[in-house]
Amino acid sequence: MVKVAPSILAANFMCLEKELKKLEKAQADYVHFDVMDGHFVDNITFGPQILKQAKKCTNLMFDVHLMVNNPSKFIPWYAEAGADIITFHLEATDNPLNEIKLIKSFGLKVGISIKPQTPIEKLKPFLGDIDLVLIMSVNPGFGGQQFDANTPKRIENLRKLSSSVLIEVDGGINKETAKLSIDAGADILVAGTSVFKTCNYEKNIKKIKGEN
Ligand code: DX5
Ligand code: ZN
Repeated sequence: MVKVAPSILAANFMCLEKELKKLEKAQADYVHFDVMDGHFVDNITFGPQILKQAKKCTNLMFDVHLMVNNPSKFIPWYAEAGADIITFHLEATDNPLNEIKLIKSFGLKVGISIKPQTPIEKLKPFLGDIDLVLIMSVNPGFGGQQFDANTPKRIENLRKLSSSVLIEVDGGINKETAKLSIDAGADILVAGTSVFKTCNYEKNIKKIKGEN
């Protein structure tokens, strides 16, 4: 069964605790934190202090997506703040094995993310060393963008390269694009807008999973 990771980027920051509790009730599988540094992408979001406080209010697993340059500098901060999975961008580092080792040294799950323009084949050398690949289906930086139509093909191509790596898809996920991604082989779907757009998060998550 596909898992859903709501992106807290689309939540109401004025009541984060309430939002996290609502996600738990709605049976979200993870909570996705989009960490942006204003350099790797043109936006700034959450520092580790926010995660540290959020961790006290929920038992949900923290899926941290680092959209930052120099990920090695940030990994320890977010690991110590409560991340369960840390994903960094292949485009943000010269030697991904350093980040992989660093994340593993904290006992966490490791993911590598790629932008829509980055060839899937570039992941090949690392697939045996990581838990998941996060395929961006929009250009990283902002919520509410449109799903890139090449994504299902990219998911299929990645599945051909590895039968075991988890495939997470991020950006523009709604009922329709979720189905395309699931049919292509996705295991985890990140969704911001389509989970938080109406107050019935449970119903919205079910729709993404194809349950109604
Ligand atoms: C984009 C982020 C996504 C985004 C998803 O840089 O990585 O997680 O918040 O938001 P929606 O579902 O609105 O496209
Ligand atoms: Zn993300």
